[in-house]
Amino acid sequence: MRILVIGGTWFLGKEIVAGALRRGWAVTTFNRGRSGPDSPGVEAIHGDRTSAADLGRLAAAGPWDAVVDTSSGELPPRDVLLAAQALAGQVGRWVHLSTVSVYADWPHYRLTEASPLLDCPPDADDAFGYTGEDGSPTKYGFQKAGGERAVTEALGERAVFLRPGVILGPGEYVGRLPWWLTRAARGGRILAPAPADQQIQPVDVRDVAAFALDQAAAEGAGGAFNISHPEGLTFAEFVTACLTVTGGAGRPVWTSPEDLTAHGVKQWTEMPLWRTHAGAWAVDSARAVGAGLRCRPLGETIADTWAWLQADGRPVAHPRWDVHGIAPEKEAKILASLGGE
Ligand SMILES: NC(=O)c1ccc[n+]([C@@H]2O[C@H](COP(=O)([O-])OP(=O)(O)OC[C@H]3O[C@@H](n4cnc5c(N)ncnc54)[C@H](OP(=O)(O)O)[C@@H]3O)[C@@H](O)[C@H]2O)c1
Repeated sequence: MRILVIGGTWFLGKEIVAGALRRGWAVTTFNRGRSGPDSPGVEAIHGDRTSAADLGRLAAAGPWDAVVDTSSGELPPRDVLLAAQALAGQVGRWVHLSTVSVYADWPHYRLTEASPLLDCPPDADDAFGYTGEDGSPTKYGFQKAGGERAVTEALGERAVFLRPGVILGPGEYVGRLPWWLTRAARGGRILAPAPADQQIQPVDVRDVAAFALDQAAAEGAGGAFNISHPEGLTFAEFVTACLTVTGGAGRPVWTSPEDLTAHGVKQWTEMPLWRTHAGAWAVDSARAVGAGLRCRPLGETIADTWAWLQADGRPVAHPRWDVHGIAPEKEAKILASLGGE
């Protein structure tokens, strides 16, 4: 099996490369050489996927049985289209990392792969789309939906779309689980979002990577797969696991959405993973599970991420990291106003 990973040096892409090498596959990576070192054992080609000349140079190094593309997180559909068209003649399957944000109904309603998508043309530029006042829909979702259409236009039934919700695990650059772990380690009274029995369904980066590789090697028509943890865990289990692995002598203070909102706590960022919309954690991944998605218990993800943080200190520099988590002074003020011990 010969595979091309567009990206391959950062979080999910790095895990995909490691997994492909473990399977004994021949791996080519393509990136600009900015985000991290190339993995030993790959054929590394450097270039910019938004450049037709660089894509031409890359295409000349083909063919590949499959492509996995993790690198379109910040790119408009027209750039996705450029790469998909440039490589279409040199690849079998195209496994494209999309997102649950492509759904028009996310995070309001339960979702399956049949749920309607946001409407965005396959050649849209980065001005297309908008973010709604309550954070839904998002411009990111429009752009990723247009990216899916671009890949479909170039690859047809050879296209596979993976639509994860939240990806956690060692190497996470967003700063969601790292913030909760760091907060738990600090201990004391911890502001936490009620209800404590709210189920959440993030997935481990290593499990997403394994499924992406399974899909790269699969046969037959592609299609779309939601990627969310089929069992998940409750917020109480999540916070308890963070306290347990960090040894933090802390106690969550479960606080109603009304109180958190009244104190101006921002969902999703200031209080990572907290979202009150009914569909935020109601994404049906039965199709992916049926096709082989296996999700490890999230306790393992939490423990391994803490081990990674401990080993590397603050391991990544990324602008999203800094917007996650509530400032200690603000948290203390809210806890004081709530009373109790
Ligand atoms: N994190 C989540 O919770 C989450 C949830 C849902 C979906 N997703 C999706 O999953 C994917 C995440 O992949 P990821 O974590 O590996 O990171 P990523 O930020 O999507 O990709 C970064 C990789 O792409 C390369 N790259 C970026 N721009 C490039 C360009 N113009 N030309 C060539 N290479 C380029 C980077 O290397 P260089 O900088 O060296 O070029 C790096 O290797 C994204 O598509 C995202 O939308 C993520």
